[in-house]
Amino acid sequence: MASAAESFTPLLLISSLLVASWFCATEAKSTVPVVQGLSWTFYQSSCPKVESIIRKQLEKVFKKEIGQAAGLLRLHFHDCFVQGCDGSVLLDGSASGPSEQDAPPNLTLRARAFEIIDDLRERVHKECGRVVSCSDILAIAARDSVYLSGGPDYDVPLGRRDGLNFATRNATLDNLLPPFANADTILSSLAAKTFDPTDVVALSGGHTIGISHCSSFTDRLYPTQDPTMDKTFANNLKGICPASDSNSTTVLDIRSPNNFDNKYYVDLMNRQGLFTSDQDLYTNKKTRGIVTSFAANQSLFFEKFVVAMIKMSQLSVLTGKQGEIRSSCSVRNSGSSYLESVVEEGFEALSELI
Ligand code: HEM
Ligand SMILES: *[C@@H]1O[C@H](CO)[C@@H](O)[C@H](O)[C@H]1NC(C)=O
Ligand SMILES: *[C@@H]1O[C@H](CO)[C@@H](O)[C@H](O)[C@H]1NC(C)=O
Ligand SMILES: *[C@@H]1O[C@H](CO)[C@@H](O)[C@H](O)[C@H]1NC(C)=O
Ligand SMILES: *[C@@H]1O[C@H](CO)[C@@H](O)[C@H](O)[C@H]1NC(C)=O
Repeated sequence: MASAAESFTPLLLISSLLVASWFCATEAKSTVPVVQGLSWTFYQSSCPKVESIIRKQLEKVFKKEIGQAAGLLRLHFHDCFVQGCDGSVLLDGSASGPSEQDAPPNLTLRARAFEIIDDLRERVHKECGRVVSCSDILAIAARDSVYLSGGPDYDVPLGRRDGLNFATRNATLDNLLPPFANADTILSSLAAKTFDPTDVVALSGGHTIGISHCSSFTDRLYPTQDPTMDKTFANNLKGICPASDSNSTTVLDIRSPNNFDNKYYVDLMNRQGLFTSDQDLYTNKKTRGIVTSFAANQSLFFEKFVVAMIKMSQLSVLTGKQGEIRSSCSVRNSGSSYLESVVEEGFEALSELI
């Protein structure tokens, strides 16, 4: 696997972080509305240490395996895009969930990411009791994955509840675009989720860390080579993936595969984006200028990324008495049922009216 890429150098990043992160945290709070039911201080009295417990533990995990940061960031993205950020992706039985055997191969999430989340849940519940949801833990872990890889630090609105229904294969395929999607497809699909072109280009910058399997991009190599791909880059990829179904992986950002920075956009300007969904953001006139501006100004990318991530982390969340707080992230609490939650919600709504 990407062994040359495993050299993590946090010290080099610290100076650049300090300036950008404070700015982003405060800026974002004033520009992104918080949806009803979530708040910036949700666990202030019920679990004041939740964020420090998660950050300390992830520092340890990433020191050994920085690649897990990418796994956690992607898991949060998949959670939020399919049925909202309700932890449904974490449930056994979800398409590409922890025990799903026939998940679409191009959606494979890292098995370890699921374990890391449930381990964090155990640590947090040990400290505070069952008051913090798996979906909140995942949102915090994704933020820490960005920050601990060298990206911006920012506050995440909290108070999500965990859903009772796993993500079906259909909902998963309908809401997650394939890597061969072009920019127009991505723009219109994400517009339906309230993301503007700047959000789309910023969120795609998540591909500044992590890896991909050959099958996700070999359509650009075989049978004919995508003319928008740099020739040397294409030849190197053919070496890594000699056939379209080769079983290896490669990094998403060749310049700095483990650092959360703006090099992904520099890759795109050099026609070294791995997926069509990446490279076409530079080909397409509607997004090209945004790519160029992020490649030229990392602070600008960080600022827009934070705004888009906070937006994403609030998609169709469950709050208040909806859903539940799971006592294990991969299974619903025993006794909970879909019907029960509907009845509970109905009762809530009724009592509010009264
Ligand atoms: C435009 C829509 C997107 C498409 C089509 C897409 C597609 C993909 C694909 C095909 C992979 C590689 C899977 C594999 O072969 O192993 C991947 C990996 C990844 N994606 Fe995306 N993605 C999109 C948006 C996002 C967003 C919004 C984020 C987060 C903000 C994100 C974060 C990641 C990360 C971190 C990885 C690496 C995962 C790892 O190393 O385990 N992606 N994506
Ligand atoms: C899933 O999608 C397929 C193809 O669009 C359709 O035939 C099938 O009925 C759907 N299944 C469910 C449970 O919605
Ligand atoms: C996954 O890959 C299969 C086969 O390569 C393809 O038919 C399917 O459309 C892809 N789905 C997604 C969501 O990428
Ligand atoms: C393909 O990858 C899987 C999982 O990483 C591994 O277990 C298997 O041995 C590999 N198969 C081949 C033919 O390389
Ligand atoms: C880069 O972006 C930041 C954040 O928006 C902005 O304050 C700064 O002026 C920009 N720098 C340049 C050189 O344009």
